[in-house]
Amino acid sequence: MTKRPGSGSRQLKTRVKTARGRSTSSTRWLQRQLNDPYVARAKAEGWRSRAAFKLIEMNEKHHLLHPGQRIVDLGCAPGGWLQVAAKETGSTDENPLIVGIDYLEMEPVPGSIILQKDFTDEDAPDMLVEALGGHKVDLVLSDMAAPTTGHKATDHLRIIALVEMAADFACDVLKPGGAFVAKVFQGGTEHQLLGELKKRFDTTFHAKPPASRKDSAEAYLIAKGFKG
Ligand SMILES: C[S@@+](CC[C@H](N)C(=O)[O-])C[C@H]1O[C@@H](n2cnc3c(N)ncnc32)[C@H](O)[C@@H]1O
Repeated sequence: MTKRPGSGSRQLKTRVKTARGRSTSSTRWLQRQLNDPYVARAKAEGWRSRAAFKLIEMNEKHHLLHPGQRIVDLGCAPGGWLQVAAKETGSTDENPLIVGIDYLEMEPVPGSIILQKDFTDEDAPDMLVEALGGHKVDLVLSDMAAPTTGHKATDHLRIIALVEMAADFACDVLKPGGAFVAKVFQGGTEHQLLGELKKRFDTTFHAKPPASRKDSAEAYLIAKGFKG
């Protein structure tokens, strides 16, 4: 059982003085990072990102990761979820079971194949399947978020479009019994997607792991028991 950070440990609060040239929002971001127990614990335990704890917590509760599974991780940089997935599946460089994709450059993660590419490129789905030797997969993870424009309605549509692409891909590549986990943002339209997925999976629901910031609209859609 993984101990949740912040409980029982005394933390000294770090204040960030607004530096010349640093905007108030980036000062706020930096202050939050410096005082975030998940950030501190990710650093201490060698996880690439605090996001690693979101997958750890969802796995503890919903039993998503198992030894020997083949996994695709969409939007994988800087690699926290890949690390968690490689550990739980036992994936190695000799016999990699995990492939990740991100358009950002990143350091290699032991036990996983990484494609530096935009998932929305036409050839991306085939390249992901080929990377795992053409096998069907057990789990598709997506932590992708479209870059925001500041225009609320546009941002929402772009986020939903990305999740829908991820869901279509999952339905193409999953084995019967497989699962799909994707970041969504609360706002309504994802319930439509949830309805579609309910037809293709035995169970579908939303999760908000404790590591997902309470003030963020982020949530995760989990679909288990792919019907094929
Ligand atoms: C929140 S981060 C993922 C963190 C990751 N789960 C971890 O644990 O380290 C989201 C990632 O999605 C990537 N992303 C967003 N849209 C993408 C796209 N169309 N194709 C590939 N990657 C994308 C971003 O570059 C970013 O690195």
